[in-house]
Amino acid sequence: MLITRGVFEEVAAGLAGKFEVEHNSADQPWGPEELARHLQGKHGALATVMDRFDEALLARCPDLQVISNIAVGYNNIDVAACTKRGIRVTNTPGVLDDTTADLTFALLMAAARRIAEGDAYVRAGDWKIAFGVQYFLGQDLHHATLGIIGMGRIGQAVARRARGFDMRVLYNNRTRLASEDEQRCNASYVDQDTLLAEADFVVVMAPYSPATHHLIGAAEIAKMKPTAILVNSARGGIVDDAALVEALKARRIAGAGLDVFEGEPKLNPGYLALRNVVMTPHVGSASRATRLAMCNTAAANMSAVLEGRDPPNPVN
Ligand code: DGY
Repeated sequence: MLITRGVFEEVAAGLAGKFEVEHNSADQPWGPEELARHLQGKHGALATVMDRFDEALLARCPDLQVISNIAVGYNNIDVAACTKRGIRVTNTPGVLDDTTADLTFALLMAAARRIAEGDAYVRAGDWKIAFGVQYFLGQDLHHATLGIIGMGRIGQAVARRARGFDMRVLYNNRTRLASEDEQRCNASYVDQDTLLAEADFVVVMAPYSPATHHLIGAAEIAKMKPTAILVNSARGGIVDDAALVEALKARRIAGAGLDVFEGEPKLNPGYLALRNVVMTPHVGSASRATRLAMCNTAAANMSAVLEGRDPPNPVN
């Protein structure tokens, strides 16, 4: 089997105790050509969201039986094509919900209270007068309205955190939550237009698919309050980056916090000139404990399939 990127040594060693393992421990991402080459003769791939498994690649890997993604998202994999070829796909749900919700809240707070902008200002030596009544005015999270688009496990974890800030929580989701889940999250179901119009903070937490591509574009941003802040820690492509850059530039909305981007790690260059956006490099689940749990979950899924058992987290 193949481990396509650097993972924790104990995880690689655990798998190597059971299977013949090739590990890209140098952690240099492979393009499709290299990936196909390294997959020759391999029954399993322990993969990341950067590895694209499309029909063309799958056609070149006849021995592949399982793709175990070290991620909850799996939009890097053509699942239908895998199913047709009898390849199992697995993911790592559950273990990253709280860590990703924490990062989402960090982005909310950083954008609301202009943390990155203030840090840059202090480091640049621009802080000449100790205190000003109107310096760096931001926005309150407490008692504000939070709108969550995509109310799966991570969206619900974000909602639960909002309780501590006495926020009013609105959500929109493909399906409405059971009333006990709504109560646990203290969240009210509304249609997307109502959410966009009423929320002071809009958090995007939906999975990426053709149906959610550019779910938030110019038309949706136009429905938001001019004081609103948009946060995306789900997937690049759900927000139309070009439309968001224009809206932030024109101050159509007040700010944004982004962990994911279309075509990452390339950025829409417009973001770099803007002060009202705070950005992190796709690190939503990046605590040591959580990344280790994700790797262990992915390894357990891999082992199950290669040993002829049902994987704990099947996607297909
Ligand atoms: C996920 O789990 O989908 C994260 O984005 C890490 O890839």
